[in-house]
Amino acid sequence: MPQAGKTTHFGYQEVPLADKQALVDDVFRSVAGRYDLMNDLMSGGLHRAWKDALVNAVNPPKGRHSSGRPVESGERRFALLDLAGGTGDIAFRVAGAGGAGTRATVIDINADMLEVGRARAAERGLDEAINFVEGNAEALPFPDRSFDAVTIAFGIRNVPRIEMALAEAHRVLHVGGRFLCLEFSAVDVPGLDTLYDFYSFNVIPALGRMVAGDAGAYRYLVESIRRFPRPDAFVGMLRAAGFHRASFQRMTGGIVALHSGWRL
Ligand SMILES: C[S@@+](CC[C@H](N)C(=O)[O-])C[C@H]1O[C@@H](n2cnc3c(N)ncnc32)[C@H](O)[C@@H]1O
Repeated sequence: MPQAGKTTHFGYQEVPLADKQALVDDVFRSVAGRYDLMNDLMSGGLHRAWKDALVNAVNPPKGRHSSGRPVESGERRFALLDLAGGTGDIAFRVAGAGGAGTRATVIDINADMLEVGRARAAERGLDEAINFVEGNAEALPFPDRSFDAVTIAFGIRNVPRIEMALAEAHRVLHVGGRFLCLEFSAVDVPGLDTLYDFYSFNVIPALGRMVAGDAGAYRYLVESIRRFPRPDAFVGMLRAAGFHRASFQRMTGGIVALHSGWRL
């Protein structure tokens, strides 16, 4: 696809489309070591509840056949692909919620984020269950119809060509598989919106400076949230990518939304 002259947004800046990925990579390279701690601090732990809602929707099999016999670790049961999976938070949760037959693949473009995830998987004895792959959500290195579920949490707004990532997610899902996207959204509760803006533009960059040594990375976070499509518009993008029964659910007054679509 020709890209000359095309631009996109990087936070509130307009940048050449071809430059966005490198700018995003700089952000996550800078914060990788403090990324998980910052999530807890910024959200007051709320990101855990939002991620739990995503994992509940993924609903991996609990490790028993309908006969009640436990699934053995060698049996293939459920394959998750977590796009822009970073340090593996979603994969760890799905592996924990599912049975021994659950396998998760985390793909992320940033080697530093993946390295933190690999170390966590080794510490927890989950290096068999979770595989970390360096790659781009816009061009997945996996065959058609190879996963039962594809997830992306707080990742899609960082991807320069969102339509390509959605088309790829659809391609690699089995028929009957579900795509789930958790993303920051638009606060729609009067009063909370003002408070949220104050917190976002003042407290978050200051926390980023103190904890991760990078206020700019967290200013990008806040700005990129404002540039992301509203949930009804994003559901339209899911439909355009071929997903069926596309829907969304707002959480915490619209701070985040969980979007869903099925490959049928
Ligand atoms: C905010 S983090 C989310 C990490 C993780 N999903 C979570 O919820 O903790 C966004 C991630 O998107 C990744 N990313 C950005 N562009 C990407 C792309 N084109 N393909 C794959 N990953 C990408 C970044 O490297 C970063 O790890």
